Amino acid sequence: MTYQEHAHQGAPVPPPGCPAHRAGGGPQGDGLLRLFGPEAEADPAGFYEKLRAEHGEVAPILLHGDLPAWLVLGYSANLTAMRTPSRFSRDSRRWTEFQQGRVAPDSPVLPVIAWQPTCSFVDGEEHRRLRTAVTDGLNRFDRRGMRRYVTRFSDQLIAEFGDSGRVDLVSQFAEHLPMLVMTQLLGMPEEYGPRLVEAARDLVKGTETAVASNEYVVESLRRTVERKRNEPGQDLITWLIEHPSGLSQDEVLEHLRSVLLAANETTINLISETLKMVLTDSRFRAHLSGGQMTLPDALDQVLWDSPPFMLVPGRWATGDTELGGQAIKAGDMLLLGVAAGNADPAVRPDLDTPLFGNRSHLAFGSGPHECPGQEIGRAIAESGIDILLTRLPDLQLSVEEDRLVWRGGWMSRHLTELPARFTPRAALRPQPPAGPVPSSAAPSTPLVPGPRPVAATPLRTPAAGPAPVPAPPLPPAPPVVPQQRRGWWSALLARLRG
Ligand code: HEM
Repeated sequence: MTYQEHAHQGAPVPPPGCPAHRAGGGPQGDGLLRLFGPEAEADPAGFYEKLRAEHGEVAPILLHGDLPAWLVLGYSANLTAMRTPSRFSRDSRRWTEFQQGRVAPDSPVLPVIAWQPTCSFVDGEEHRRLRTAVTDGLNRFDRRGMRRYVTRFSDQLIAEFGDSGRVDLVSQFAEHLPMLVMTQLLGMPEEYGPRLVEAARDLVKGTETAVASNEYVVESLRRTVERKRNEPGQDLITWLIEHPSGLSQDEVLEHLRSVLLAANETTINLISETLKMVLTDSRFRAHLSGGQMTLPDALDQVLWDSPPFMLVPGRWATGDTELGGQAIKAGDMLLLGVAAGNADPAVRPDLDTPLFGNRSHLAFGSGPHECPGQEIGRAIAESGIDILLTRLPDLQLSVEEDRLVWRGGWMSRHLTELPARFTPRAALRPQPPAGPVPSSAAPSTPLVPGPRPVAATPLRTPAAGPAPVPAPPLPPAPPVVPQQRRGWWSALLARLRG
């Protein structure tokens, strides 16, 4: 019997043996809750609590295409799944739904779940081989060097809006800073920065141009890797190529792509959410300026309350097992509920109690796959916010807090805008860079390609800023990928189909 043949009253019902079926009906009595769509995406925290009340630590849910999976809600159950690879593997090829051909080729879960030759999708010795290459490379960046890059790009971004007295902190600051810094760490030519910011943003939005944007990212990386083979430098691309783990060309490219995207999306969210908290929560700002809370503490509070990845897909059961009182079958998929685990009443009976200095949240995962870039993500966010608040000390939200809007997704949600105002500062116009920061000259085009309308409601004291500057042309896209090279997407589908 096919999946569709189980359809009941228009909604597909999972086949026997899958988590959804075994749950014996969901909270509504006639089906399980879907992890995608308006209900889950409008209020993820409320959605998780509803599931927790009904199912406890581990809940059966439906993914896009009504594919069944388990959502791990408990703090301790999440740690068990993260730290026990012998029972919960990272290898998505084990997924029963893949093996039985029930995942549609255009399923929106594929870009993050389909197996790729990176450390994220392997366990054991192979994981150690690949991960060591990444961690050895990332560990070579010191915090002081990172801060120089962050200072330079933060100052350039602030200079572009500094004399207008108003800014959208999401589209004019948070969405640019991580990628600009990452391109430097990778050793990519500076002119790629702004175009890569656009491409990465487009890619995760899943728009119709997402495939082309992904190709731009991959082709930019491929061209830089080719150049670095002849002209090695002090950068992650060179270190991955030369690492004794002996990564293949494909492995180098796939790791670079996933590092770039993982670092970008998460760090944007961390910066946006921390700035939102600073601007909207007077207690938070008072603690920060009064010295009871440091900026690193503030970041950890955000990593508890609004982790950049709300959930991490995933783990796959290596055999029949049990977690949080649920019978898990071999090949079932588990989604790690990072946000739900961080809010588990068993570890946080009162969500309003501040957690200054407590780093035991799940935002970076745990166990063998724990995020190896967390210090870099923290350093970009911390230094960037510090510089922004130092340069613009009277920064204030310019709309009512209840006007703020998030764009929903099943893995993460993003603030769409954070409009703010401040006293205009003409002196913040771009200066030539000082000091020994690599890549000498300041860019001749703005870092932020196209201005977006900033304030959703009129500002009380409109600033007489300059007229909007037309968007400068983006750097030319790289030449079309030669025909014999398969696109990333088709290569991924081919791998999936075996
Ligand atoms: C605030 C920023 C960040 C957050 C919240 C974050 C979060 C995470 C999480 C939750 C995981 C998955 C852990 C698991 O599967 O158990 C992960 C993995 C990973 N992250 Fe991050 N990350 C951040 C920044 C970065 C940065 C800046 C880099 C690179 C420079 C990076 C590189 C990676 C890599 C390579 C992995 C895969 C590790 C493995 O599977 O062994 N991340 N991250």
